Amino acid sequence: MNVFDLLRQDHERVRRIFSELAKTQGGQKLARQELFYELKRELLAHSHAEEKAFYPKLVDKPPTHDIIEGGINEHRQVETLLNRIEAMPVETEEWMSAVTDLDQMFEHHIHEEEAEVFPKARQLLPNDQFDPLGEQVKEVEDEEKRRTAH
Ligand SMILES: [Fe+2]
Repeated sequence: MNVFDLLRQDHERVRRIFSELAKTQGGQKLARQELFYELKRELLAHSHAEEKAFYPKLVDKPPTHDIIEGGINEHRQVETLLNRIEAMPVETEEWMSAVTDLDQMFEHHIHEEEAEVFPKARQLLPNDQFDPLGEQVKEVEDEEKRRTAH
C-alpha cells in the first residue's frame, strides 16, 4: 500500500478508538482501560513509524522542514499527555477531559499531515517510492505493535 493511504488508515483507526472512548461512562473502567491501551499502542506505533521511515525523507527539504520539525514536537506532546492520562484514575471527569484534549491534539496532527504534508510529499518524493515507503512504515509499526502486545 502506498505510504499516504497507509498513514490515512492509521489516522482513521485512531479516530475510531477516540470515538469509542467518548461513548464510555466513568463506570466502564475496564472498557476505558482496554480502549486506552489500544489507543496508546496505535498512537506510539504510528508516531515512531513516521519518525523512522517517513519524516527523514522530508525533514531536509526546505518546503517541508518546518512542518516536519513541528510534527516531531507534537509527537512528544502526545506522548507526554498519554503518560499523564495513564497516571489518572480512569473513572474521573478529569480523565475524560484529558482524553478529549489528546483527541484534539491528534486531530490537529491529522489535519496538518493530510492537508499539508501529504500533498507536498507527493511533489517532493519520486512516485516509485510511495509503495516501498508504505511498506517500511508498516514494518516499523508491526514491529512496534509486537513489542507492546499484551
Ligand atoms: Fe500521522
